[in-house]
Amino acid sequence: MKTTIIAFANNKGGSGKSTGCSCVAAALSKLNKRVLCVDGDMQLNLTLSFFNEERAFEFAKSEFNTYTLLTKDADSDKCVRKTEYENIDLIPSSTLMSGVEYELFAKWQRETILKRALSKIKESGKYDYILLDAPPTLGCLVMNMLVCADRLIIPLEASPWGLFGLANMFDFVESVKGINSELSVLGVLVTKVDTRKNYFKQTLEQLNELGNVHVFKEVIRQDSAIEWAQDNSKPVVFYKPSSRSSKEFEAVAQEIVSLCENS
Ligand SMILES: Nc1ncnc2c1ncn2[C@@H]1O[C@H](COP(=O)(O)OP(=O)(O)O)[C@@H](O)[C@H]1O
Ligand SMILES: [Mg+2]
Repeated sequence: MKTTIIAFANNKGGSGKSTGCSCVAAALSKLNKRVLCVDGDMQLNLTLSFFNEERAFEFAKSEFNTYTLLTKDADSDKCVRKTEYENIDLIPSSTLMSGVEYELFAKWQRETILKRALSKIKESGKYDYILLDAPPTLGCLVMNMLVCADRLIIPLEASPWGLFGLANMFDFVESVKGINSELSVLGVLVTKVDTRKNYFKQTLEQLNELGNVHVFKEVIRQDSAIEWAQDNSKPVVFYKPSSRSSKEFEAVAQEIVSLCENS
């Protein structure tokens, strides 16, 4: 199977990108898919979804992580760390990613650095999916992620301001298409839904009115199991497989597989 690269991006912070990325990785691995996660955020949230703080800081300080991959030509194979799960590997992030925008700016063909850095891994066919966790920005780093990606998932919080930045996101995707014409939006994933409130229904209606974007059938509801799982450095799909959110992420993974593999 050809490797599909999926970016999780939304310039709004707290919309569920890192949670979505780690839990979709876990759910895809349960479907026997081989997954590589790439943490692109200085907050290390994706790395912390699989490793404790001590290991995450050890990786962040090492010569092999997303930062050195982008700025120091680090060997991509050496940046890949094995997680405790057989089908999931991870390229960890670094706190030095805070300055990466400035460093990328001075580089040759700066929008394609990540694509070139991951090409060896992509071509090796070692993974069915490579999932990229973006920071909440729309700069050169996220441009790199979308230039590298085949598909984009936009996690969106069902809140009044959740929809507000979506137009910026779509404009950004259009500008990326100048470099990566193959990029397509796989869908908007509505997250952190509070079913006690009716607000999320309005979010769903407004999204469906847009017409031109797929909205994942399954929404991710608020679930405290997610917080406990993150506190234990595990995706909830492994930490508490019986939880509501685990089932939801498993349904999302099924939908991703059918959208990517049947088209
Ligand atoms: N479905 C959910 N239920 C409860 N808490 C959630 C859920 N999804 C995300 N969170 C919490 O919301 C916060 C933001 O989520 P995160 O995935 O880090 O967003 P982003 O990566 O977009 O900034 C985190 O503290 C996370 O624990
Ligand atoms: Mg995040």
